[in-house]
Amino acid sequence: MTQVLSLTNLIAQGKLSGKRVFIRADLNVPQDDAGNITEDTRIRASVPAIKSALDAGAAVMVTSHLGRPTEGDFKPEDSLAPVAKRLAELLGRDVPLVQNWVENGVNVAPGQVVLLENCRVNKGEKKDSDELAQKMAKLCDIYVNDAFGTSHRAEATTHGIAKYASVACAGPLLAAELEALGKALGAPKRPLVAIVAGSKVSTKLTILKSLADKVDQLIVGGGIANTFMLAAGLKIGKSLVEADLVEEAKVIIEAAKARGASVPIPSDVVTAKEFSPTTKAEIKQVADVQDDDMILDIGPETAKELASQLGKAGTIVWNGPVGVFEFDQFGNGTK
Ligand code: 3PG
Repeated sequence: MTQVLSLTNLIAQGKLSGKRVFIRADLNVPQDDAGNITEDTRIRASVPAIKSALDAGAAVMVTSHLGRPTEGDFKPEDSLAPVAKRLAELLGRDVPLVQNWVENGVNVAPGQVVLLENCRVNKGEKKDSDELAQKMAKLCDIYVNDAFGTSHRAEATTHGIAKYASVACAGPLLAAELEALGKALGAPKRPLVAIVAGSKVSTKLTILKSLADKVDQLIVGGGIANTFMLAAGLKIGKSLVEADLVEEAKVIIEAAKARGASVPIPSDVVTAKEFSPTTKAEIKQVADVQDDDMILDIGPETAKELASQLGKAGTIVWNGPVGVFEFDQFGNGTK
C-alpha cells in the first residue's frame, strides 16, 4: 500500500510546534428536532487528533460539515454550536466557534483550539472550488484529513485544500481505516464477508461494486438492502429506497454470483407504519410486507442466519448499521 503521510509521523518528527493546523473532521452527528445530539461517537472519535495536535504545541482549527445546508445561506439549524459544546466537554476546555472564517480569517494561538462553523455553508465547498480551497489553505501550515466518513467526497475541505496546503496529512482516524482496509482487503483470511449497510446506496455504490469483486459474501443492510430487495422482485412498502439504482443493484448481484459469491437477501424484517422512536415494531416475512409498511431492521431469522455465516468468516469488513439502531426496537439486527 502507498505510504500516506500521517499526523502521527509529523508529531514524532516534532513538526507541529507553533504551527497552524487545520483538521477536517467528520462531526456530522445526528440531532433531534430540538437540535440535541442523539449520538456523539463521531465527536468522541475526533478527540485523539485534536488532543495530539494541541499537546504538540499547534494552534488548532477544526471544521466539519453538519447536514447538507445551502451554500451561502447559513441557518441556525446548520450551526456546529451543539458540537462545539460537546467537544468542549470532552476536551475539558473552551472550544470557541468561529463564524465567517473564510472571509475574516482565524485567530488562534498555539495550544488553543477553535471550531470553524459548518464548512458546507461556504460557497464552493461541494463543487471543490479551487478559489475556496486556496483561501482555506492559506489559513494553515498543516492540513489534516481526519474525516474518514466524508473522504469519499471531493469537496473543498476534503480534497481541494490538500492540493494547496504546504503540508497535507492523514489524521489518526483516516490512517487507521486505511491501514485496516489495506490489511483486510489486501490479503484477507477467507471467507471474506463484507457488510455494507446504512441508508445511502448511491454513495456506497463504488464500494459495493469493488467489494463484489473481492468478497465471498456481500451482506447488504438498511436502506441499501431495500434497494436490493426491490431488485430481487420483493415488495418493500414505503421503505427508504433508491429505486433508480435497482438496475445497478442487479448488476452487483450478478457480478458477485458470477464469482461464486453471494448477496443474501433478508427472509424476514422488522417493520413499522411510521418513523418514530415510539412506533410499534412488527416482525414479518418479506412476502408479507404491506404497502404502508416501512422496513426498519432485519428480522430475527435473517439475523440468526447472517450471524451463523459471520461466525464462519475469516475476515469481516463492516460499514453501516443494518437497521435503525437509534430506536431500540430496530436495533437487534445490528447488535
Ligand atoms: C455521513 O454522515 O455519511 C458523512 O458525514 C457524509 O455525509 P454526506 O453524505 O452528507 O456527505
